[in-house]
Amino acid sequence: MRPSLVLGALALAAAACERSTQTQPPAAAAGAPAAHYAVGPIPGGGERSERTNPFADDRGAATSGRRLFVAYNCAGCHGGHAGGGMGPSLRDDVWLYGGADGDVFASIAEGRANGMPAWGTLLPESQIWLLTTYVKSLRTPHEAQPPR
Ligand code: HEC
Repeated sequence: MRPSLVLGALALAAAACERSTQTQPPAAAAGAPAAHYAVGPIPGGGERSERTNPFADDRGAATSGRRLFVAYNCAGCHGGHAGGGMGPSLRDDVWLYGGADGDVFASIAEGRANGMPAWGTLLPESQIWLLTTYVKSLRTPHEAQPPR
């Protein structure tokens, strides 16, 4: 897919050059579709659960993830301390879609059928790993801001 995207970009660039030698106003070239596509996560790729969390050994990551959890209002659906709300609890020991780091990453990045939005096209991968790290820290001694 990548090579064809690059070729597409070259073709567009070439087309833009041709156009500029004609009498067309530059606006026409500017109106050409940008060769920049937001490519979201591709569903169904089974390898995702084998991804390794780059923050697994990072003590501060759960705290950063906690901050993102609040900032992106995950708490609005999963509860202030992820104990559940409209969305399921993330701090019990039940995983609907698997509790390995890669599974949690996939749940966040791709979304899940019954109302979990996909964040993969909105957030950089590093932030999804930070959120994953926070979710995985729940009920452990490393949990950031545990409930009292
Ligand atoms: C609009 C409500 C909503 C928001 C916002 C939301 N979630 Fe969810 N989430 C859900 C629902 C509902 C499910 C269960 C989906 C299902 O059963 O198919 C879910 C499932 C999950 C799961 C899988 C749980 C399991 O048991 O396997 C994880 C992990 C998760 N959410 C994390 C997050 C994180 C992190 C955020 C913020 C970036 C977030 N969610 C934001 C509603 C939400």
